[in-house]
Amino acid sequence: MGNKGGSGKTTLAINLGAGLSNIANSALLDADPQGSSIQWYQFVDQDDGVDVYQANGQLREQVSDLNTNYDYVVCDCPPSINAEQTQTLLEISDIVLIPVQPSPIDVWATIKLEEVIIEAQKSNQKLKAYVLINQLEPRVALSRMLRGALSELELPVTETALRRRAIYKNSVLDGKSVFDAGKLGAEAATEITQLIEEIIK
Ligand SMILES: Nc1ncnc2c1ncn2[C@@H]1O[C@H](COP(=O)(O)OP(=O)(O)O)[C@@H](O)[C@H]1O
Ligand SMILES: [Mg+2]
Repeated sequence: MGNKGGSGKTTLAINLGAGLSNIANSALLDADPQGSSIQWYQFVDQDDGVDVYQANGQLREQVSDLNTNYDYVVCDCPPSINAEQTQTLLEISDIVLIPVQPSPIDVWATIKLEEVIIEAQKSNQKLKAYVLINQLEPRVALSRMLRGALSELELPVTETALRRRAIYKNSVLDGKSVFDAGKLGAEAATEITQLIEEIIK
């Protein structure tokens, strides 16, 4: 999930990992040296959710090991598309999700990213790439314009967008995903489930 800082990679990784762990044996690999997913995991007190691992120096081997033990391995990437971890993961992954916020600067950054991803798809032909709208606010003009702006991209944009919801922030400190956040997390859980259904066909 390569993208610049703050677009929602970690939030997405945590909740995708949690959502996938509801349907299959799933791991989350924190490949960002910042270690935000690992920090979240330190607050988690249930053991029936996603298993979280910190990336070691041998990312390729580590992912391959995890692949033999898990049905799904979700990776949280560093902010830079040029980071070694991101590059390696683009070479070996089946799916890359690029969260983008409703902001012109994010859209421009995504245009740059697209070139790198299309290049990566030439050598990793199984790699499917999707742009995902995150922090959508339906009543805000920039949000409404976003899908139009993104239609200029070659990469497909998922039909499912993630809304801007306080629960995505608030659940983190409780070591929870939106799936464990009860009623407050219900709508967020529904959109994450929809996203999973959309990309895992
Ligand atoms: N859909 C969302 N609704 C509300 N807040 C969000 C959402 N997605 C991300 N955030 C918040 O935005 C900030 C950046 O998200 P984060 O997942 O850390 O991005 P990244 O890992 O790409 O740097 C965090 O404070 C996170 O809680
Ligand atoms: Mg992060």
